[in-house]
Amino acid sequence: MSHIQLSENIFYVGVNDRRTELFENHMELPNGVSYNSYLIVDDKVVLIDPVEAGFFDEYLQKVKLILDDRKVDYLIVNHAEPDHSGAIAAIIREYPEVQVVGNAKTFAPLEAFYGPIDNKLIVADGETLNIGQHTFQFFMVPMVHWPESMVTYEQSTKIVFSNDAFGGFGALNGGIFDDETDIRFYEDDMRRYYANIVGKVAGPTLKAIQKLGGLEIKMIAPSHGLVWRSNLQWVLDKYIQWSSHQSEEGIVIVYGSMYGNTARMADIIARGAAESGIKNIRVYDVAKTEVSFIMSDIWKYKGVIIGACAHYGSMFPNMTLLVHELNEFKPKDKIYGIFGGMSWGGGGVKTLCKHAEEGGWQLAAESVEVKGAPIREEDIERLYDLGFKIGKEIQ
Ligand code: FEO
Repeated sequence: MSHIQLSENIFYVGVNDRRTELFENHMELPNGVSYNSYLIVDDKVVLIDPVEAGFFDEYLQKVKLILDDRKVDYLIVNHAEPDHSGAIAAIIREYPEVQVVGNAKTFAPLEAFYGPIDNKLIVADGETLNIGQHTFQFFMVPMVHWPESMVTYEQSTKIVFSNDAFGGFGALNGGIFDDETDIRFYEDDMRRYYANIVGKVAGPTLKAIQKLGGLEIKMIAPSHGLVWRSNLQWVLDKYIQWSSHQSEEGIVIVYGSMYGNTARMADIIARGAAESGIKNIRVYDVAKTEVSFIMSDIWKYKGVIIGACAHYGSMFPNMTLLVHELNEFKPKDKIYGIFGGMSWGGGGVKTLCKHAEEGGWQLAAESVEVKGAPIREEDIERLYDLGFKIGKEIQ
């Protein structure tokens, strides 16, 4: 097998992680994730963004297969988060002379995680580093995804090493480049990654895209997911769509239900939405589907109808995380609806309404609260109407 090359002297040396069950220890990874890293061999040798600590041995073996006895001169750290920076301490032990390249904000988090780093090269926005045939230019993109985030542009090959931006979940299944695979397979995992990691900083992401707009870019090489060389406009359009909160026609209905009554209400609402003409309707039980999947669909679709049964005067407990994420990430351009069962004293709908007020949800219809099960004609009608009305509203 030959080395994986982005250009004659730029190599892919990333790894696949199919063993971590939860990314950041809270988001499921049914398809794994990749930690992409890049090795540039010139008069000097450069590594861009290493990998998670547990993959250091595999990573180093890949690097050494290319370098043999040559040493790494520079380690560019676009982002200090441990899914990329985890192997830094081990790299410095392996190559004690290596200069770690970061910006004014990079080293505080790095040294907080890994201890003092002696050999630093601090670069400013727009500054360049030449290593022979290759010249790297650094652009600060604060908050995409942390304050110290930057991207590195290689001027001769016109490759942008974008770290988290343009990344996605999903280990790379043989195809490393977008044109070696069916990109539609990765789309859902990319959006889930976006909605749960980058979405909170959608504004800075849009700014970063505008900032890089003046560059001629031939390839986007992120630190997770596919390397983009043939479908740049596709990935750019997706990122612009998600960052500017452009929703598609569809409704996500999420419920929390102890004995199935609020679940039955969700089905009635879904029927109303379907009869209004909506074809994309996704119904989720918040206790069964991990929240990152629900957030991903909420990011995509315009309608969001949330239901919770009562639980000790408040709402079904598992709904708390979703509501927290919604009010934290604030997806815009949404039309909301609220429903739920009262159990013995109510509280689910009341609590959801409180969160709606705090989060500034745009409610398209009156909330529907039902005593017990949805078995009375008037309750069934109110639930059906909620789905129908929101369905009509978003078309
Ligand atoms: Fe992939 Fe923000 O780290």
